[in-house]
Amino acid sequence: MPAAPDDPAQRVDELRSTVARHARAYYELDTPEIPDADYDRLLAELDELERANPELITADSPTQRVGGPADTAFSPVAHVVPMMSLHNAFDLADLGAWNDRVERRLEGQPVPEFAVELKFDGLAISLRYEDGILVQGATRGDGRVGEDVTHNVRTIADIPHQLPAAAPSVLEVRGEVYMKLSSFEALNQRQVEMAKATGKEAKLYVNPRNTAAGSLRQIDAGVTADRELSFFCYQLGLVEGGPELASHTETLDWLGRLGFPVNDHTKAFDSIEAVEERIRDFEARRHDFDYEFDGVVVKVNRLRLQNELGADAKAPRWAIAFKLPPEERTTTLLDIEVSIGPSGQATPFAVLEPVFVGGVTVGTATLHNQDQVAAKDVRPGDTVIVRRAGDVIPEVVGPVLSDRSADSVPWEFPASCPVCGEPLVRDEGAAATNCVNFRCPRQVRGRIEHFSGRAAMDIEFLGEKNIDRFVSLGLLEDVAGLYTLDFDLVLELEGFKEKSVDNLRKAIETSKARPLGNLLFALRIPEIGQVNGQTLAAAFGSMSRILDATVEEIAAVDGFGAVIAEAVQGWFSTPAARDLIERLRVAGLTMEAAEIDRSENQTLEGKSVVVSGTLEGFTRDGAKDAIVARGGKSPGSVSKKTLALVIGAEPGASKVTKAEDAGVPIIDEEGFVALLDTGELPNGS
Ligand code: IVH
Repeated sequence: MPAAPDDPAQRVDELRSTVARHARAYYELDTPEIPDADYDRLLAELDELERANPELITADSPTQRVGGPADTAFSPVAHVVPMMSLHNAFDLADLGAWNDRVERRLEGQPVPEFAVELKFDGLAISLRYEDGILVQGATRGDGRVGEDVTHNVRTIADIPHQLPAAAPSVLEVRGEVYMKLSSFEALNQRQVEMAKATGKEAKLYVNPRNTAAGSLRQIDAGVTADRELSFFCYQLGLVEGGPELASHTETLDWLGRLGFPVNDHTKAFDSIEAVEERIRDFEARRHDFDYEFDGVVVKVNRLRLQNELGADAKAPRWAIAFKLPPEERTTTLLDIEVSIGPSGQATPFAVLEPVFVGGVTVGTATLHNQDQVAAKDVRPGDTVIVRRAGDVIPEVVGPVLSDRSADSVPWEFPASCPVCGEPLVRDEGAAATNCVNFRCPRQVRGRIEHFSGRAAMDIEFLGEKNIDRFVSLGLLEDVAGLYTLDFDLVLELEGFKEKSVDNLRKAIETSKARPLGNLLFALRIPEIGQVNGQTLAAAFGSMSRILDATVEEIAAVDGFGAVIAEAVQGWFSTPAARDLIERLRVAGLTMEAAEIDRSENQTLEGKSVVVSGTLEGFTRDGAKDAIVARGGKSPGSVSKKTLALVIGAEPGASKVTKAEDAGVPIIDEEGFVALLDTGELPNGS
């Protein structure tokens, strides 16, 4: 029953507990008990009472936390105690060398104890409590400045909002936000069910780590809550008050008593040999946990010794992360199939009995080309070893020969294209085998898919499935055909309604205004990727000038040269290309280049920054535009001259490897945002 209007404190209390109960039902349990509008009314009443009686506002009031975006979402948070990284050890020799360095620094006194804990594969977070109330959650960022994600961490059930009375006046607790494997699987299961219900293709999350990281950077806290994240604490930041603590394990015990989730596999050992045994044990039991870890962290347990050892610019000297080797699993190779790429390349791939390895379920893995299959001699029916490390694409390492059946025979590359039936061709000396039939439906589809892709003409609502249907029904023969598509016939196709046809028509119409650089990239001209497309457009200013350009003029364009110029001019000189461009011109596509926006600070003047994978806050074009607008370039591949490789979800494995080999810093989206702003790389990268 509502309290008398003259007793706001009591009504505020009542409202708080009601709102909190419904918020939990909605955000955490996914079982709302009242309509949204009723919930909003309760929250509005509470808000009004608090505004009228500001002395009643508390940091843990639902008005200050649950639901909707917080005003402060993603604003910068300075870490008074920096959030450091860890140095890595890749084998026991590295671990031994670290131990020697520690002992040397401690002038020969052996370390009495090491704390050994798992290196959780998630996202580092710092939680700040004032007088026992959670007031802020921040990401690590570059270690000194992170992002405010308070509204999101508040939806994580593991994270206490309020601590017992004994808590210090200021307490920063650091740890890892991660996603349990069971939550990850349930989330994907929900995606499958939702897709079934809506008749769309299921959009599955790739791995728990990226999903957890992406979830924390959601503007809408409801989305974060829906993802069921978890938390383990492993470190303190700034602390004012509180008990004297002597060791890391003692700290964790105390944090556990304050209500923080502490991983129960952390233990202290009194010799480096015992630490090694513990690491081996974790490695052997890697699959027995409901969460992923990519290493084991070894810490000098005594806090006094930690202080003595201190830190270098990147990481503390008192800890080391022992990285576990790439994960390998065995499974059955059900078949070897050949896929035809959009440009006709025939790539063999392994069809596997699905296996969970390196954080994802792997059902297929590329076998690259004919020579690779021969070198590995993998055969359908074999038990094979599958490996996956970090975000790298899965790989079939080789067969388990002892399991091979006696009647198995080497696999042979098919002679004809599985799509059009025409012969496959392998040029002498080349690694690749190709379908060379220009009319092969896969290639026709491939050209249209590429043309309509996000980085090219960005035609929404078209999609691979529709392209496939239109091509196979003869409604579409090439990219120019999009602009004369018969929408009356499309409307007759199953699944199309007035609305969806209208959406598609508008999307195709909108694409006519895409910049000339996009169109050049969209046409799949040899050697013309996204960057060269923009460069070509900027250098010549219009399609007609490009059509008239000589090899010499094209070769003179910055970064082009004779080989590219020959290929480009060769393509433009064919009647088929000229005819296609003419049809596109008649259709009304943009044939003139636009001026580049240089209104931003030129923080990346002359620098090149490569972007790979999906970023949360930028489209692929958006990221490039942001770089170009700051005076930089964004080529499609990494070289020694690259300033940084920015990686989002599912980055290209070859780019990552190349960056690592060339010593090019790899930064995440947070680092990228800072880089755009300041031109500086995050500390430690
Ligand atoms: S301690 C000052 N302990 O690893 C030392 N970090 O590579 C701070 N991590 O950013 C880190 N599990 O996100 C520590 N048990 C653990 C960890 C852990 C995972 C992550 C953390 C950190 C990264 C450093």
